[in-house]
Amino acid sequence: MAATNGKAYTMVDHTYDVVVVGAGGAGLRATLGCAEAGLKTACVTKVFPTRSHTVAAQGGVAASLGNMGPDNWRWHMYDTVKGSDWLGDQDSIEYLCRHAPAAVYELEHYGLPFSRTEDGRIYQRPFGGMTTEFGEGPPAQRTCAAADRTGHAMLHTLYGQSLRHSAEFFVEYFALDLMMDSEGACRGVIAMSLEDGTLHRFRAKKTILATGGYGRAYFSCTSAHTCTGDGNAMVLRAGLPLQDMEFVQFHPTGIYGAGVLITEGARGEGGYLTNSAGERFMERYAPSAKDLASRDVVSRSMTMEIRDGRGVGPEGDHIYLHLDHLDPKILAERLPGITESAKVFAGVDLRREPIPVIPTVHYNMGGIPTNYHGEVLTLKDGNPDHVVPGLMAIGEAACVSVHGANRLGSNSLIDLVVFGRAAGLRCADVVEPGASHPDLPPQSYEPAIARLDRFRLASGGTPTAELRLRMQKVMQANCAVFRDGPVLEEGVKLVNDIWKGSGDIRVTDRSLIWNSDLIETLEYDNLIAQAAVTVTAAANRTESRGAHAREDFPNRDDANWMKHTLAWADCDKRTVKLDFRPVHTYTLTNEMHYVEPKARVY
Ligand code: FUM
Repeated sequence: MAATNGKAYTMVDHTYDVVVVGAGGAGLRATLGCAEAGLKTACVTKVFPTRSHTVAAQGGVAASLGNMGPDNWRWHMYDTVKGSDWLGDQDSIEYLCRHAPAAVYELEHYGLPFSRTEDGRIYQRPFGGMTTEFGEGPPAQRTCAAADRTGHAMLHTLYGQSLRHSAEFFVEYFALDLMMDSEGACRGVIAMSLEDGTLHRFRAKKTILATGGYGRAYFSCTSAHTCTGDGNAMVLRAGLPLQDMEFVQFHPTGIYGAGVLITEGARGEGGYLTNSAGERFMERYAPSAKDLASRDVVSRSMTMEIRDGRGVGPEGDHIYLHLDHLDPKILAERLPGITESAKVFAGVDLRREPIPVIPTVHYNMGGIPTNYHGEVLTLKDGNPDHVVPGLMAIGEAACVSVHGANRLGSNSLIDLVVFGRAAGLRCADVVEPGASHPDLPPQSYEPAIARLDRFRLASGGTPTAELRLRMQKVMQANCAVFRDGPVLEEGVKLVNDIWKGSGDIRVTDRSLIWNSDLIETLEYDNLIAQAAVTVTAAANRTESRGAHAREDFPNRDDANWMKHTLAWADCDKRTVKLDFRPVHTYTLTNEMHYVEPKARVY
């Protein structure tokens, strides 16, 4: 029992070799890898694995299989470096792209039901920014798809495989905090069972955070309500930094009003955007790639059309996506999911009419800094690549950094499986199965219980929902597709005011059984810390790079800014501190040359 404020929580102890937090594509791939290697592995997840947000990934997973034309992992690497606007670490990008084909074939062998070509190979579609011949050749058909439900298929496949290898799942457990010792090593994680409020200390040699992004810091996003970046916030509370948080991706085609994703695969299959004049305006902004330029470029072009008075709809505030010219057979075969989404969320039959769309927050390039093994890094004694013992991160929660300032579509799913697999391989190398664990020092878990109690018993005057809405609206308005110094500075001030308002929070439900009021408050507390580091880092970066487009600093500034931002938050004092670490401007092997920076045009 752990007694706090007169209420006794039942405490349950567990001991594992590895504990994975999160059961999306990355978490499941790591869980599977560790279990397959004979490590006693637990996966702790706040939603049932097949309901993780990876389920919403539609268009596909990038790998240079070359099934639909010539391809090469080096071309994939070139495109990814260029897409990242030279903020990606080139050693990690090489790791991603060269291992991508094997990771996809592995998924195929695990049973993922990919769509097929006439001759039975994995079907691949074009996606934005994916080219051949180091950007000089025609678009690459590189994105391997299971219709437009690739993430859904991936989750079911990996969950089944994890069970086959006897991984243990703790489903509907909310991770509260990392358990860190006085040496700065991670010793596991403390979580709460949503069903009965029992607390669980999971001791592990390696704790792998696969907790996804924090899209819900914004008002309109394609992310599920569960995307609250819980692992990122736990890292901040552990006194460790997050990296490149100013880089937030807007997907060009969220359904206007609903925010629901319409896959880039729609444009890959021949869809195109038009303005109020019916013009295919992308031809002006990206003469070569057009509608398949990278996401930051398309989102900015759409925003400029709307700003210049050429938006569609009664308020001229969105854009049309056309698929009505495509063969209905192709739509039924390749895009059945978005056909349904357009009907349900926009009331549109996309076979006959355009879909109203708008750039919508979709992905966080920033996250927990790691190397390509998935080991978490921090800045210590002047070393920017100091490995934090016992702690790993993968997937959208991590910043490896392969996506740099802007991620290419379909590079997320491949990131999940390549680095989920890498983390499993690393654990298999360095963790001795069944090795004993030293005792847990109380200071490693007591602060988490105190925080839980503080929120469960909070009796201030402001409901969580009010603070959350204020935060989401400020982030949407002050840290958007286009950014500007005074607007960002105002955003920093407003977010800090809201953050300070957390002292007056009110939670009405004091119970421990399915207390959604409490969980949403803990999630909000996670989000607001991430909102603070995001907007502070954005105000600080006085250049434009990838998704970070400053109107007052319109150019990329490699001399001063080709470096990663590191951001720490003191969550008690509610302050943010920034520093930097260098971009890795070297490759992993001699089999690929360093991609020299140049102007990024599509
Ligand atoms: O557009 C999409 O299908 C999304 C893919 C991605 O974000 O990688």
